[in-house]
Amino acid sequence: GSGGTDSAGTSGSGDKKIVMGFAQVGAESGWRTANTKSIQESAKEAGIELKFSDAQQKQENQIKAIRSYIQQKVSVIAFSPVVESGWDTILKEAKNAKIPVILTDRAVDSPDKSLYKTFLGSDFVEEGKKAGQWLVDQYKDSKDPVNIVQLEGTTGSAPANDRKAGFEQVVTDPKFKVIASQTGDFTRAKGKEVMEAFLKANPKIDVLYAHNDDMALGAIEAIEGAGKVPGKDIKIISVDAVHDGMQALADGKINYIVECSPLLGPQLMDLTKKVLAGEEVPARVVTEETAFTQEQAKQALPERKY
Ligand code: AHR
Repeated sequence: GSGGTDSAGTSGSGDKKIVMGFAQVGAESGWRTANTKSIQESAKEAGIELKFSDAQQKQENQIKAIRSYIQQKVSVIAFSPVVESGWDTILKEAKNAKIPVILTDRAVDSPDKSLYKTFLGSDFVEEGKKAGQWLVDQYKDSKDPVNIVQLEGTTGSAPANDRKAGFEQVVTDPKFKVIASQTGDFTRAKGKEVMEAFLKANPKIDVLYAHNDDMALGAIEAIEGAGKVPGKDIKIISVDAVHDGMQALADGKINYIVECSPLLGPQLMDLTKKVLAGEEVPARVVTEETAFTQEQAKQALPERKY
């Protein structure tokens, strides 16, 4: 979008208006929608002018957006990198233009940490471990093989890589067998489509591990369509704890959800002001999160904000 154009001008009071260019991943999930809302609302509250772009899950679009923010000489660039690799060139361009960059939600794999000021977001490995630990506990008394299918997030994204890795670190007993694993791109539609294919190819699926609620919700439709009962015939673990996911958990269709908070806006605005004031900020700010059983979801639902 095109925002105001006089943002680089200084006002009489000497206070320069902060302009943030934010390159969002897309609008692929309930999580993302809540995240966008959090960023837009908290920018407004903090008196920060926001230039916002939606990359529709394409790295090239994000790079274009960032390059345009550099040309517009924004005060700060924040973005949630759709995938982990391939950012060095554009981040160097920002650095050369002396525009600070803040990573939110997702990490980049660049070894040069001077390319961004800080990284605010969840510990996705920890989330994968929590998902795996629930599974291990659930089946601790069983010796039978447990057939697991996995719906992965966007290929190459930090949450997909890390949630898979964290899960594998904990789910080590050979009785657990991941019999199929494929990306559902963090969307409901893809989650449904891939789960339909999993169901056709595999007569015995005990557990679905979905890297987010939206894919789990799509998969629930596929499972019901195949005449099976989600949460019973096939146990479901997912990540996020957005409203629709929590509702499905409370209704018994999902068995366990690891929380991933999208409400990063207030902390992002706070870090932005500190960075621009030349204050020290921690290199990594980790979001605080929990996890929910079906009973806990019933209790938490009335007060959930998203
Ligand atoms: O990067 C966070 C992930 O992206 C969320 O878990 C998922 O729902 C979103 O699309």
